[in-house]
Amino acid sequence: MSSFAERLIRWQRQHGRHDLPWQGADAYRVWLSEIMLQQTQVSTVLPYYQRFVASFPDLPTLAAASSEQVLAHWSGLGYYARGRNLYRAAQQIVAQHGGEFPRQFEDILALPGVGRSTAAAICALAYHEKRAILDGNVKRVLARFCGIHGVPSDKTVEAQLWQQAEVLLPAQAIATYIQAQMDFGATLCTRSRPRCAECPLRSDCVAYQSDQVALLPTPRARKALPEKSATFLLLCHDGQFLLQQRPPSGIWGGLWCPPQTDDLPEFLQTHGLSAPHPLPPFTHTFTHFKLHITPLFLSLAQKPSGLAGKWLSLNAALHAAISTPVRQMLLACRQAHFTEAEPAPVDSKTPHNTDY
Ligand code: ADE
Repeated sequence: MSSFAERLIRWQRQHGRHDLPWQGADAYRVWLSEIMLQQTQVSTVLPYYQRFVASFPDLPTLAAASSEQVLAHWSGLGYYARGRNLYRAAQQIVAQHGGEFPRQFEDILALPGVGRSTAAAICALAYHEKRAILDGNVKRVLARFCGIHGVPSDKTVEAQLWQQAEVLLPAQAIATYIQAQMDFGATLCTRSRPRCAECPLRSDCVAYQSDQVALLPTPRARKALPEKSATFLLLCHDGQFLLQQRPPSGIWGGLWCPPQTDDLPEFLQTHGLSAPHPLPPFTHTFTHFKLHITPLFLSLAQKPSGLAGKWLSLNAALHAAISTPVRQMLLACRQAHFTEAEPAPVDSKTPHNTDY
């Protein structure tokens, strides 16, 4: 029986993905794709990747863009720290490597947003270096194949998995092997309902042979997500909406967002605003908490004073660096016909309604 790597490489040639636009591309594009593919599926990434390379075809172009333009291309992809780090990394590459994507593993690892597995994937895929990777898919495959119990993010378990990842590396065809590991984990050795009957590794897979596929990798104890609430005011004047830039850290860092308030009556009073119209509330789930969102719409005859930010038409706002929930709120305004030239009726005598 051939080795783990040989079987995976053969599987890749027959069943793996061969038409991904970053395959065989330069290191800049491989880096970009690997960052986009962190926690995100290929099918989601594809249109973002295509738009991104159309606008920023090389590293100097990316570094010369504004962070605003870069984040606008990330809008909707989530995990926005990735976009901010990508942009910072581009500046670092210009400052330290003359705008040429670094060739050395250590220099790639030193870029913001690049960890050991991502640096190794770039070196293997772009430079054909013999390097082990260990992303979520590979952890699952190795935990099953080697029968490694324990939560993979646990330091000692992770160290065992890295060791196996190193031991199993092939001497040749490294780029094909790395792509095989990714494709195999994403399409065959999936978390639920893996297709073991079609697996070329099953004769040596500890989990399969001991009937423990469903038990591995050991799931981490799931705590109920904390829940938070947030109220957003969609202030509309003459078809334009007020968006404010969020602080660089925290949720949607650096992105544009309607004003948020924890104290609606005070906000309305401070800015001399009348009672807004509620739009349908919805919940957005982040990795670490759930956010219950209350969007409120208010049409204004004049722009209020004392509110920083920029006023954008709905179309311009939808093209700005915004998160998916902000997009949803803006679309809800359109849905409710609140953006038409005729302002929505506002009775200025209505007392402030605190019942939201
Ligand atoms: N996930 C992470 N990197 C990937 C790649 N290069 N191809 C497919 N899926 C991936």
